[in-house]
Amino acid sequence: YNLTVLISGNGSNLQALIDACASSSLQNARITHVISNRKAAYGLERAAKASIPTTYHNLVSYKKKHPQTEEGTTAARIAYDADLAKLILALSPRPDVIVCAGWMHILTPDFLNPIASEGIPVINLHPALPGEFAGAGAIEKAWEAGKEGKIKRTGVMIHEVIAEVDAGDAIVTEEVPLKEGESLDDLEEKIHKVEHGLIVEGTRQTLAKIKK
Ligand code: GRF
Repeated sequence: YNLTVLISGNGSNLQALIDACASSSLQNARITHVISNRKAAYGLERAAKASIPTTYHNLVSYKKKHPQTEEGTTAARIAYDADLAKLILALSPRPDVIVCAGWMHILTPDFLNPIASEGIPVINLHPALPGEFAGAGAIEKAWEAGKEGKIKRTGVMIHEVIAEVDAGDAIVTEEVPLKEGESLDDLEEKIHKVEHGLIVEGTRQTLAKIKK
């Protein structure tokens, strides 16, 4: 099976997938392409070290081609998402699954529809439980809520990507208990460890549903 992985930053979850493909946990899968929306994403280095082809898909160049107005920005984002789909559908081999691993760009129907019409599942890692803390900064929001005694646990999920942010059906989730007085860094470290296991498990379960 072929995976295309979308990243924006450190790429620790990409690294978990790279390591899993090299071991038994994802033995029948390989990452054939990594795409980042940020030039400085360390994940691009991780991919290069693993001899995985990479693409930097740059929103700035799209914004430059459109007027700096609201309509122009919307048109730039539509073109960006449509071209991201074209780029992926033109890959050879084509991916069986697209994995968003620390990907910080909201994917619109201009990306999702062409991909869905080719039957390619898109899955995303989100460091919160279904229905909780959607969007950026989820770990910090959970930590704050824990400090206020509102919740005793948060968690991580791998879910199917739909147009609504972090709202697709969960594929796999794992709870993470909140500890009294722990720092945000401590919680982030705990969460990232869970992410690294869940991204592999969520990808494995998605592949298992694909009959090839
Ligand atoms: C994860 O919590 C991810 O959800 C967020 O950044 C964190 C680490 O991502 N976007 P990465 O895989 O280390 O880039």
